[in-house]
Amino acid sequence: MIRLDQVSYTYTNSISPVIKNITLTVEAGEKLVVLGKNGSGKSTLARLMNASLVPDAGNLTVNGLNSRQAENRRIIRQQVSLLGAMPDHGFVSNIVEEDIAFGPENLGLSPSDIRKRVDTALNLVSMEDYAAYPPYLLSGGQKQRIALAGMLAMQPAGMIIDESLDMLSRQGRTEIINLLLEINRKQATTLVLITQNLEDIWWADRVAILERGELKLLSTPRQLLSQLQLIEEMGLELLQITRIIQNINQTAGTAIPTDITDLNTLVEILCPLL
Ligand SMILES: Nc1ncnc2c1ncn2[C@@H]1O[C@H](COP(=O)(O)OP(=O)(O)OP(=O)(O)O)[C@@H](O)[C@H]1O
Ligand SMILES: [Mg+2]
Repeated sequence: MIRLDQVSYTYTNSISPVIKNITLTVEAGEKLVVLGKNGSGKSTLARLMNASLVPDAGNLTVNGLNSRQAENRRIIRQQVSLLGAMPDHGFVSNIVEEDIAFGPENLGLSPSDIRKRVDTALNLVSMEDYAAYPPYLLSGGQKQRIALAGMLAMQPAGMIIDESLDMLSRQGRTEIINLLLEINRKQATTLVLITQNLEDIWWADRVAILERGELKLLSTPRQLLSQLQLIEEMGLELLQITRIIQNINQTAGTAIPTDITDLNTLVEILCPLL
């Protein structure tokens, strides 16, 4: 669906390229996680993927539409929605439901279809009680839910979530990720999640790691979790269970695989050793 062919990007005021020669295809219906340290280029990559930015070398196409052509950009932005980290900048109305209706209105839908989309989206993010609220009175996590509802109401074929779940509690994040996965399953939506939290990667088909604008690694979540050194080099925090396994291996001289993510599996491995 989203195809990058040797894409590079330099901001007008940056000294060196921020995205360097990235070739990557995100398939329709795929679930991709993008990881990387602060400043590694994740948000820039996201903006390129929805044609908010245009590569200065290489090509980026969405369903065959090249973002170089100005007339394609609006269509690309409708097909690939980007939810940024700071929803405050995104609110266009002082009433939550009007804010969510804004996108569907621009799609030229009928008032009753717009109503349905707004209600469904509010339900999906469990915010139906806040339909008449001003967004600025909401908590950070609630704002993120409303921003997400605005995206869901557009029913885009692709969704890029750029660190927009950070204000949510762990339970809230899991809830939203499960919701996104359900939409992905039912509607074959393409999902790109940008995060620095290894807890959020278990469901992904693939994980891409960016380092200083380069695509450093493309792997599955399990492959990544078996490369502890790389994770530490990336400055990412290990999962709690990985740290436990690491401690056991170091103190007991065992070689328990570090890609285990659930406690039951670990217990099954440990019991015969005791
Ligand atoms: N509008 C801009 N103008 C100039 N330079 C920018 C702009 N936005 C980002 N940069 C620079 O581009 C590089 C990559 O930034 P980007 O925001 O893509 O990284 P990121 O991986 O999303 O970081 P973070 O984890 O902090 O969100 C950084 O060095 C940053 O300073
Ligand atoms: Mg960013």
